[in-house]
Formats: sequence, C-alpha cells, structure tokens
Amino acid sequence: MATLAAHQSIDAAPAHWTQGNPDEDTLAHIPGEKGWPLVGNTFKMLADPHGMAKAMVAKYGRVYKNKAFGGWNVALIGADANELVLFDREKLFSSEQGWGPILDRLFPRGLMLMDFDHHRADRRALSIAFKPGPMRHYADALNRGIGRQVEEWGAGDMRFYPAIKELTLDLAADSFIGISWGPEADRINRAFVDMVQASVAPVRKPLPFTQMKKGVDGRAFLVDYFTQETHRRRAQGGGQDMFSQFATAEYDDGSLMPVDEVVDHMNFLMMAAHDTITSSATSLLWLLAKNPEWQEKLRQEVEAVTGGTGADGRPRDLAYEDLGKLELTEMAFKEALRMIPPVPSIPRRALEAFEFGGYHIPAGTPVGVNPTFVHNDPEVWDSPEKFDPTRFTRQAEKARHKYAWVPFGGGAHMCLGLHFAYMQIKILMAHMLTRYRIEVAEGYAPDWQAWPIPQPKDGLQIRLVRI
Ligand code: HEM
Repeated sequence: MATLAAHQSIDAAPAHWTQGNPDEDTLAHIPGEKGWPLVGNTFKMLADPHGMAKAMVAKYGRVYKNKAFGGWNVALIGADANELVLFDREKLFSSEQGWGPILDRLFPRGLMLMDFDHHRADRRALSIAFKPGPMRHYADALNRGIGRQVEEWGAGDMRFYPAIKELTLDLAADSFIGISWGPEADRINRAFVDMVQASVAPVRKPLPFTQMKKGVDGRAFLVDYFTQETHRRRAQGGGQDMFSQFATAEYDDGSLMPVDEVVDHMNFLMMAAHDTITSSATSLLWLLAKNPEWQEKLRQEVEAVTGGTGADGRPRDLAYEDLGKLELTEMAFKEALRMIPPVPSIPRRALEAFEFGGYHIPAGTPVGVNPTFVHNDPEVWDSPEKFDPTRFTRQAEKARHKYAWVPFGGGAHMCLGLHFAYMQIKILMAHMLTRYRIEVAEGYAPDWQAWPIPQPKDGLQIRLVRI
C-alpha cells in the first residue's frame, strides 16, 4: 500500500459520512499542535514521518493531535492502541473512512475500503484465491519467474530496488492475472504503475498532463480489461491464477460477485501486493547484506531444505510443501518487517466517541496507529536498532504483546495476502542465496525514504558474488 496515514485528510470528506471532521475546539483537550498556517505539519510529515512521530510522543505523550493535509487527526501510539483500533472489538472504527480520502479515487471499493458485514462477505468470497490449491499454483509460477530472472541478473553490481520492483510486476502478470510476460503484461503494468503513482500525487484533480490524469486513464484501461476478462473467464472457465479465482468467487448463498466488484477487488489487490512486497524484499536483502553471519545461516537452511543443486546444475526450486521448513528465513523476514514496516501507519475514522489513554476522542475523528513507532519502541524491544531474528522464536513471540508487531495489521482487515508475501520472499531467498553471496561496500548505509513507502533513495547498491 503506497500510502501513509499521514495523508488522511488529502481529499474532502464525502457527503455520505454522517459526522464532519472535528475542528480545533472539539479537540482542544488533546495535546498536540497545528504547525504552520494553512499547511500545518504536512511538510514535516512528508520529510520524516518517523522522526516527527518520535518528537510528538516525546513532547505530548502517546495520544496527540496533529494537523496535516488539511485536517486534524489523532495519533494513538502503542501496542494497546494497535489492539484497540485494529482488533476493534466494539466496531468503533471505519477502515473505509480512514483509507477512503487517500485511495477512494483510484482504488474504490477495495477490501480495505469496506466495513463490517459487506467487508466480511466479500473477504470470505475472495479467500478462495488463497487456499492450498491456488497457492501451490502460484508457488510454481513464482519459482519459474524468480529462478529465471535471478539467474539472468548474474554476478556483479546492481541496484536491487528497481530490479525487484520490475520482477514483482512481471510475477504478478503470471500468478495474479494468468498471462505470460510480454506486450499485454507490459501495457497492464504501465497502467497499474500510473495508478499507484497517482494515488499519492499532490494534485488531486485529473487535470491535463498531471499524474492524477495518467492514473485515472490507467484505471479506465484496467477496468475495461478486467471487465471483459471477467466475462470471458466466467464463460470459458478460468485458470488457477488469482484473477480467475476472483472472477468465479461465490458468496455463501452460491451467487457470483457482481462483475464491477470483481474488477475493483482485483485492482486493489494488485496495489496492496506490489509496493509492500518490493519494499520488504529490499529491506530484508539489505539487512542480510549487512549481517553476513545471518545470510550464511539462511543459505545453509535453504540448501538443507531444497537439496542444493539439481541434475541440470542449477539450484533447485523451493517446493510449496517445504515453505514451512524455512524457519530462520521466516524469522529474518519478520525482523525486517519489524525494522522497516512497509505500511508505516494505519488510518481509521472513529464512528463513535471513545476513551483512550485518559482522553475522550469524539466521533468523526480521523485516528491513526503507527507500526513504525511501536516496532522501534525501546520499551518493547531491546536495542531496537539491532537486526536480531531470534526475537521471533515461538517462545519470544508468545511472551510479547500480540499487537506489538503488526506489519500486516490485525483483526478483520488483517492482510489477506500475507501468506503469499511469505511465499514470494522465501522463494526469492531460495533462488538468490543458493546462487550468490550478497555484499555491500564497506561502510555503505543507504538513506531510506519513508514516503510514500519505505525505499532506499539510491535503489540499494549491492554486489552479487557467484557461489
Ligand atoms: C510484505 C508484504 C505486505 C505487507 C507488509 C502488507 C500489509 C498490509 C496491511 C498492514 C494491511 C491492513 C491495513 C489496514 O488494516 O488498514 C493489509 C491489507 C491487505 N493486504 Fe497486505 N501486505 C502485504 C502483502 C500483500 C499481498 C502480497 C497481497 C495480495 C496478494 C495483499 C493483499 C491485501 C489485501 C487484499 C488487504 C485488505 C484486507 C482487508 O481489508 O480485509 N497484501 N496488508
């Protein structure tokens, strides 16, 4: 998801919302600040959202208000806040109204933009695409595509971030849409990239020559493509790819999902999957390059599980059945997601007033929880700046607050694709670590850009050394 909760007030609240956003007087009892006239703290948040959150917590405590992107919101910080908002026992928080101002124009009616009963019914229907049968099919497609591309990268220097971004797009054409790499996939990928870039563009109207116009055109192309394809796959029977699963997904009563809903879910899913996998693959690779002893442990684990090199002289694929055996790889990935969560903050809007941390938060308040802050909080994690995958042994996980680690969210909206993400990362590691040693120059430390999704500003300069 290429966005931060910081962007919450980017568009005006839609007319059908029952409450307006709270004004300064309504939030007067909550500590915080409004920043500069007109722009508030917008630029500060864009430049360094994590640094700003740290400064705000130090100054105002773990519940604070902030004005940015044209409106007020209230930050709720800590594992208890994560649980309150994400688990949402009392159904107090709307995800649609939290994410809507950011995503509604380009990714309307995606799962994250639905609440309660409608959301539950659609999520159940779409879950079919993540059952073992289709997942095994995606694993084959991922092994095929990743094996080929990683071999092609070859030994030498490369910028990893743009390379994995392109590979992830190509992989999605195969396992998400069921088409092979080529001009059709390229056209779809282009439209999709335009949409994602537009979703965080500062100009929110599709005026000529703006990114938003490109995004809106990209959306029109994809809606048309997926609409025709949904009809075709329903008539002819689809394959095992994710889109074909969605096209034929049924509700509990056996009825098919309306075609326009299939299309919106598909668009949204591609967006939810793409930048998140790209960002987390990059952070894991960086942390393994910086921590060669862990890189070696993972390499040995992968070789033990896949059996090393096959009869063709190439490293073997990672079989779907063996995914669960890569325990250290999974722990290392979890640690990378802790240190650099791809979705750094998660927005909601309060449908009713509630109390938290001694404060009364009025109905209609946009609120946000902050995984980046909690994942790096010294009150929860010893030496949080240290890469230490042993934080994720089963025992250590059990001993911690369940909501101290939330890279995939939690509760009803918990990431639907998290097993797909684990699978793609494990297959990527299996193919990379058995072919190459990953190195970075002595003293190298890339500058990470937080907005709109964590990524190294220089693309992550690595060297692959053939094993
Ligand atoms: C490392 C990779 C990923 C991360 C860190 C991630 C993170 C998240 C988070 C934090 C949420 C919940 C947001 C909220 O509660 O407001 C979410 C929701 C979602 N994610 Fe992921 N995601 C990842 C990969 C994927 C992939 C690969 C897919 C699809 C194949 C996917 C599909 C979805 C969908 C459909 C939702 C909405 C679920 C709902 O609202 O019920 N994600 N993701």
